[in-house]
Amino acid sequence: MANRQIIEEKSYKTVYREGNVIVKEFTPSHPKSDVYNEAYIHACVEDAGVPVPKLLGVNPAGGGWAISMEYVTGKTLWELMQEQPEKSDEYLEKLVDIQLEVGGYRVRHLRNTRLKMEDSIKTLTQIDASTRYELLQRIHGMAPHTKLCHGDLVPSNIVIKEDGSWVVLDWAHASAGNAGADAAITYMRFSLDAPELAEKYLRLFCKKADMPIQYIQTWMPVVAAAQLAKHKEAERELLEKWISVAEYQ
Ligand SMILES: Nc1ncnc2c1ncn2[C@@H]1O[C@H](COP(=O)(O)OP(=O)(O)OP(=O)(O)O)[C@@H](O)[C@H]1O
Ligand SMILES: [Mg+2]
Repeated sequence: MANRQIIEEKSYKTVYREGNVIVKEFTPSHPKSDVYNEAYIHACVEDAGVPVPKLLGVNPAGGGWAISMEYVTGKTLWELMQEQPEKSDEYLEKLVDIQLEVGGYRVRHLRNTRLKMEDSIKTLTQIDASTRYELLQRIHGMAPHTKLCHGDLVPSNIVIKEDGSWVVLDWAHASAGNAGADAAITYMRFSLDAPELAEKYLRLFCKKADMPIQYIQTWMPVVAAAQLAKHKEAERELLEKWISVAEYQ
């Protein structure tokens, strides 16, 4: 049996490599339906022809469930940015190009971005009813679209292969809808994890997508509220600041 090499450990899952296979093993308390849902979305995206690691299966493991997929040889865009910070502009461009290409795919059976956001806002207990109402009004005001949105397109979820081609990982949060919402999520992730790159990313996305910045800004309080539901204390202050823009309007 090939060696097990742990890549990432979180409270609810471990990602490890065993030879040519990547396994995402979830703790027994993690809902089976969530694991199957992630694998299902991955399969839908793979069937549509998006470059993703080949899904190999969902299996019982360690008392819970695990997703197996092919290991893709290469480096994540995040690893490349860390290794060559002088090339960060070039890598940011790559990220935006990939995001726009992903958005060009049409994938059947995915939930709509607006409905998904609406559901997460409705069940939020951390914000009051008036703010929830304002956020829902914002969502209703956005035009319906059907672009593939990854929902967490950050440099660590992109593997660049040796030949320069790319593969996108981690499809648990994908939906079909508005590219502006997807860009707002990426911008939010940069603001939380690598703030020095956030504004540059936003400017670049708007330019390459030919999208007004106001369109992405409209989504910001909405995506921040959806992120607040994850209860990450370190993120709370910034997210609440973003959400406050939607209050009393
Ligand atoms: N199929 C794969 N081929 C190569 N490397 C992979 C593959 N899947 C995952 N990895 C590596 O493992 C890391 C973590 O995997 P992944 O992004 O799926 O989980 P995660 O970031 O913990 O999930 P989430 O973002 O949902 O919390 C990736 O950043 C990448 O370095
Ligand atoms: Mg990831």
